[in-house]
Parts: sequence; C-alpha cells; structure tokens
Amino acid sequence: MAETLFTGIAQLVTPAPGPQRGAAMRQLTALKDAALLVRDGVIAWMGHEKEAPRAEHTHDLGGVAVVPGLTDPHTHAVWAGDRLADFEARVEGVPYEEMLARGGGIRSTMRATAGADVTELVRLARPRLWALAQSGATTIEVKSGYGLAFEAEVRMLEAVRTLQTLLPVTLLPTLLIHVPPTEGREAYVRGVCEELIPKVARTRPPLATAVDVFCEREAFQGEEARAILTAARAHGLRVKVHADQFHAIGGTELACELGALSVDHLEASGAPQIKALAASSTVATVLPGVTLHLGLPAAPARSLIDAGACVAIGTDLNPGSSPLFSVPLALALAVRLNGLTPAEALTASTVNAAAALGLRDRGALAVGQRADFLALHSADWRDLAYTLGANPIRTVFVGGQALKEIHS
Ligand code: NIG
Ligand code: FE
Repeated sequence: MAETLFTGIAQLVTPAPGPQRGAAMRQLTALKDAALLVRDGVIAWMGHEKEAPRAEHTHDLGGVAVVPGLTDPHTHAVWAGDRLADFEARVEGVPYEEMLARGGGIRSTMRATAGADVTELVRLARPRLWALAQSGATTIEVKSGYGLAFEAEVRMLEAVRTLQTLLPVTLLPTLLIHVPPTEGREAYVRGVCEELIPKVARTRPPLATAVDVFCEREAFQGEEARAILTAARAHGLRVKVHADQFHAIGGTELACELGALSVDHLEASGAPQIKALAASSTVATVLPGVTLHLGLPAAPARSLIDAGACVAIGTDLNPGSSPLFSVPLALALAVRLNGLTPAEALTASTVNAAAALGLRDRGALAVGQRADFLALHSADWRDLAYTLGANPIRTVFVGGQALKEIHS
C-alpha cells in the first residue's frame, strides 16, 4: 500500500465533487496550513496539518497553494500540417468561415492529416499534449475530425490510443464528425451512422468514448447532426456538439434534447440557448481561446451561470481557431473575456470540465477522489486565474506522483 502525506500546503482550495451549477460554482472550500494523504493514487484524508495522521512517506510542498488537477474537455491535438498562412490571411481580413467555404481552413488540415500515418500523428501530437499536461491538465479529451475518410478518422483515434501509453495523464478520445465532403454528403452521413460509428464502438476497448458533431451552416445541419448523434447513442457512445460558434442553428437545443454530455463553443448563443442549457444537465463548455484568436464574441458564460447552467472551460487546442497550449491561460481568459470569477473558473476547469467528459471521480480535493492535484508557485491560488503568459504551476501530481515524461 503506497501512502504519502503531502504537507506544507499554505492553502488547499477546491470545489465540491461532482458538477456544480449556477451560484454553487463560486462556492470553494479553502483550508489553510493543510495536508493531504494519498493512498494508492486516491485521496485518503485531508485537513489541517496539525491533525494529520502518520504516513509511510511525507512530501513537504514548501508553503504553496494546492488546487485539483485541471481537465481540458475539448482539444483537437492531433493534426498534421499548419495554418500559418491562414493566420496571416485572417489578420489581414479574410474571415475564418470564408476560408472554409473556399476549401481551405479545416479542409486544408484534413488534407495534411489524411496524408499522415499513425506514427507521424503521434510524433506531432505528443509535445502538444505534454505542454497541456505541464500546464496542469491531468485529464485531456482529444478529438478526431481531420480525417474525413473513415480510415483516416480511425487512424487519428489509433494515434490517441498510442498516446495514452506515452503520456502519464488521462486521455479520452472522441470521434468528431467535423465537416461533410463537398459531394455526397447524404451518403457520408449514412456511412458515419452505419459503418464508422459501429466500428468505433465495437473495437475493444472502444476507439472513442463519445461522438461529437460540428453543427454549423458550413458544416452539418440539425437533421444530419440528429442522425449521427442518435446512431452514437444507439451504439452506447456518449454525445457532444460543437454548437453556436457562428450561427445558432439548433445545435444547442438538439444537444440538450438528446442529453449530450456537453455543448461547446456558444459564441453565438442567445436567450433561447441559455434557457435550454439552464434547464438541462448538459454542460456548457466555453472556449475563450477561440474568442481571442478569431476575434469572435465571447460565449455568454456570465449569463449562463446566472441562469443556473453548469459551465466548463476548454482550450479547444487546434491549428485553426485556438492554438492555445495552456489550461490556466484558458481559465485566465475566461475570467477576462467571458466574465467568470476566478472561483467559477476553477470550478469550470475541474469538476465541471470532468463532468463534460462524464467523469465524477476527479476535479475536487476530497476523500475518494483521484489524487490529481497541482502545487502552484504561489501561496495564493488566485494566481492561477491571474497569471498571463507564465506557467503558474510548479508541480503536477497525477495519482499522487509528480508528472514525469515517459521516455521511449
Ligand atoms: O472547435 N469549429 C470547428 N472546429 C474547430 C476548429 C478546427 C480548425 O479550425 O481546424 C473548433 O474551433
Ligand atoms: Fe473544437
């Protein structure tokens, strides 16, 4: 039985376990001069250091703040090629959606990704995921979606499976049905429902735990998204939706109706979508990196929380709309751009982000939760949401072990 008592915690700060909505997102527990006992990767005790039980090993953290490990519930970390020319064109005024409509943007990343083998995809994605892990992400979702052809989508998911063995954090793969082919979209959607989803679901272990659809004018429309998500559910997979990024065309309402784990983006959401999310258990995931990088309106996270919704934050790490490699920076941007308080942002990036992936065993510092936690450089946890451009995290602990690169 491996047992370590972590001491020297100036401040231990955590939301309560499980998803938190509305005003409860601001309610954190803060303990001064705390200690944390980890047994076999799980929190066995926490409280004031003076009252701590004896343990086999002790680890003095030296008087810093400790918060739960962060979850990044939305990334597209596997891609080949780059979008640097797009970036230059965009800052000179060409809109993102127009590039996509002209066959560039996401479609150019699809051409590059479809041409790469699994080994190459793993080589490219590994340092990106390592950067997220070092920023404090102990659980990371990774989507496919740049394959288009079914074999290329499967290759992306196989790359995630290999990456799971190369990174000491939890990686959760999602099958993303991103944009339709330029011709034969009806047959494509049928193939997704009748071939791709069944194949992904029946592989053991399943190649993905969830299916996501980009529901947008330039991508899939409501009825296509409904068919895909219904097929996913029929095969035992959870569902998620990219919705309301540019236009609110019904993706959020569909996601809530189907009991989706989360609906992500929401930059164009208005009162009807806020109402639907507040009345559902679907997590509203905001992606402030997209607001910053594409200059889109910020998703209405303040109104969502005030209406009682459960809000999470993701990086949306991808080459086109959010080249953001840090979860604390996403959290810090959500405070500036989406109007979250630092306490709400911590809850959004921990228990709520875990709930957006269907996980309840992490995101809080409480007995029985996974011992994924972060020691900050600072003695005040608010530096997590305050710092811009430097990593506020000194040490990442996964299951009570300091994060170490796997060499292979
Ligand atoms: O979440 N909106 C659609 N998909 C991604 C962007 C992908 C890309 O631009 O390569 C997103 O923003
Ligand atoms: Fe995305």
